[in-house]
Amino acid sequence: MHHFAYRDGALFAEDVDLREIADKVGTPVYVYSSATIERHYRLYEAAMASTAPGKPAHVFYAMKANSNLGVLKTLAALGAGADTVSEGEIRKALAAGFPASKIVFSGVGKAESELAFAVEAGIYQVNIETEGELDLLSKVAQRLGKRQEAVFRVNPDIGAGGHAKITTGSSANKFGVSFEEVHRLYARAANMAGVRIMGLAVHIGSQIREVDAFEAAYTKMRDLVLALRAEGHRVDRLDLGGGLGIPYEVPKDFDHGPGLIEAYAGMVAKLMQGLDAELGFEPGRLIVGNAGILLTKVLHLNPRPTKEFLVVDAAMNDLMRPAMYEAYHEIWPVAEPAEGAKTIAYDVVGPICESGDTFTAGRELSALKPGDLIAFMTAGAYGASMSSTYNQRPLVAEVLVKGDKFAVTRPRQTYEELIGTDRAPPWLP
Ligand code: LLP
Repeated sequence: MHHFAYRDGALFAEDVDLREIADKVGTPVYVYSSATIERHYRLYEAAMASTAPGKPAHVFYAMKANSNLGVLKTLAALGAGADTVSEGEIRKALAAGFPASKIVFSGVGKAESELAFAVEAGIYQVNIETEGELDLLSKVAQRLGKRQEAVFRVNPDIGAGGHAKITTGSSANKFGVSFEEVHRLYARAANMAGVRIMGLAVHIGSQIREVDAFEAAYTKMRDLVLALRAEGHRVDRLDLGGGLGIPYEVPKDFDHGPGLIEAYAGMVAKLMQGLDAELGFEPGRLIVGNAGILLTKVLHLNPRPTKEFLVVDAAMNDLMRPAMYEAYHEIWPVAEPAEGAKTIAYDVVGPICESGDTFTAGRELSALKPGDLIAFMTAGAYGASMSSTYNQRPLVAEVLVKGDKFAVTRPRQTYEELIGTDRAPPWLP
């Protein structure tokens, strides 16, 4: 469910007409709905709270999905924690109002300076992925006179996800320490002055739409918790990662309700019953995915004997998912097509100079003309956060809507900002 819908023939974000945003802010522009973000966070949080009665269930929003300041502040105000993967994300989470005590630092390759920043900031937990990182973290924390709480991210050798590039849990992937290693590392860490190991973490992939793979991985994790405890280790926390998927391809009037979230929460509750561990969750896409759209304008039509190209002002640098993962995004024209209107099969492409800059091929849409606005739906997760300035295209603007209000939460990058920070080498005039 989301809050983008037609009203009197035009597409609205909550109570705001998207034509008004396009007029005032220009295109392309990402538009996010506060009500949708809030709804999904609340649904998810309530479902996870039911997984371990009597124990806190920590929700750390995976901010890599969407790190717009307005989105972050919305979630921080709801009491969410943040899952971060770089010093930049930690800094931004702090700036958005997430308390350090609710920040988790994950990631395969944390630099010494990043670990030092995290420890000094006093974050809740570091998710350790290699033995080298364990040693480095302990050294850094000791130097700072601290003992950092941490967990081991374990690779359960169960991969899943909507695309090979976003599967993380298989042993062939680069993520986490192995099930065999973790016993030895736990024992080693017990003698380290700079870290206190609190438990385990796991994350198997992204855009996973059924609970089976999670269940298989989490069963292994539960058994590992019990085995480590039997060896005399303290295992108080179990961070279960993110990865729950969302529907990208749906009829306009379809209400998903909480189905998948509840099935997932039910499975977790059953598996973890009696384990007496604090659970953590790291959802990204599920919270923000269908809370955002990319609004773009048709620039040109390019009819060919065999097909028709629709050239829009957004490109793969603004929304990389179709080019990178063959991802599907629905396209809704901002002017509501008349009932039964004839459609044309368009190849929707951006202005970038490579054929990969194709959003979709042969998509049936109502007839469009230059100047018309269309929206790429379900672009709130891994849209703006993965954008670049390829082809020297400025980063697009981002807008947050709340009811009948909207605010530019990131202005379009100026050409001065885009090219003005380069420096010529001294040997060239
Ligand atoms: N925790 C960890 C350790 C992760 O690596 C990720 C995502 C998450 C949580 C959040 O996963 P989510 O709930 O959003 O599925 N750019 C890709 C998705 C990459 C996901 C990377 N890791 C896409 O556009 O589909």
